[in-house]
Amino acid sequence: MARPPERLMQLEGYNTVVTGAARGLGAAAAKRFVAEGARVVVADIDGDAANACAREIDPTGQRAIGVTCDIAEPAACDALVARAEAFFGAPIDVFCAHAGLGFAGVFHESDPAFIKRIVDVNVLGTIYSAQAALRSLVKSRQASLIFTSSLQSVTARAQRSIYTTTKHAIVGLTKALALEYAPLGVRVNAIAPASTDTPFLRGQFEFLGSKDVDQAVRDAAASMPLGWLPTPEDFANTAVFLASPAARSITGINLLLDSGAAAGIFRR
Ligand SMILES: NC(=O)c1ccc[n+]([C@@H]2O[C@H](COP(=O)([O-])OP(=O)(O)OC[C@H]3O[C@@H](n4cnc5c(N)ncnc54)[C@H](O)[C@@H]3O)[C@@H](O)[C@H]2O)c1
Repeated sequence: MARPPERLMQLEGYNTVVTGAARGLGAAAAKRFVAEGARVVVADIDGDAANACAREIDPTGQRAIGVTCDIAEPAACDALVARAEAFFGAPIDVFCAHAGLGFAGVFHESDPAFIKRIVDVNVLGTIYSAQAALRSLVKSRQASLIFTSSLQSVTARAQRSIYTTTKHAIVGLTKALALEYAPLGVRVNAIAPASTDTPFLRGQFEFLGSKDVDQAVRDAAASMPLGWLPTPEDFANTAVFLASPAARSITGINLLLDSGAAAGIFRR
């Protein structure tokens, strides 16, 4: 059995927000932030799931609360930040703009309504939530904005064209905001995970017609140079690192969390 991560209290006293945190990678990061001494707002379009996740992290409601937020709505992003500042009684120190949707399918057969929704959430929603967050982050003395891109922010993949496009956009946003907000004391970075075993990945395999999703996950792991997929805990560790003082000189990077996948062509 995997050992629980060492608790180093690397984020003692930090006020953190994670979007898309009701499950998957975002939930792992939110849970870990609290284990590291932070308080967290678990934000998600699924408010019931966000509340359940927050209660699981901290049943007392002192260190974690759930908030309903559709990041594709600018007013909802503003309300999220206002709610977070009220809960913390202070500005936000770390904002993980993590929420995003997957999208797989043949490019010329893709439904325009689905294309619009994924661009609305993955690109515009990330922009709106970052805008709202930065109005608070600039007031913090330990501020960090962390995006979730993807391995497909640096490589492409057939039948993932729309998703790949949205994730390349996140890299441009990361670099531009890193430069714009460095003088204001906010570091801006992205984490680029390869396929990670979450409902997000399993849903994509199902959508593409996989008959055996467990086998598809095992095959994906076997295709990695390291032989395994990054885990939600690996994602959480990376988010803790980027948010912590250990990364104080790091801004504008898109940190690959990809088990070696982007290093080159790999055949076992
Ligand atoms: N799991 C992977 O393999 C993988 C790999 C690379 C990148 N990512 C990225 O990670 C992010 C999510 O991945 P995950 O694996 O945690 O997914 P997930 O599907 O397990 O969880 C995503 C969460 O986001 C929420 N959400 C969806 N739309 C939202 C919106 N408009 N506003 C607020 N919340 C919303 C969902 O309700 C859900 O709780 C996405 O940005 C995705 O591109 C995932």
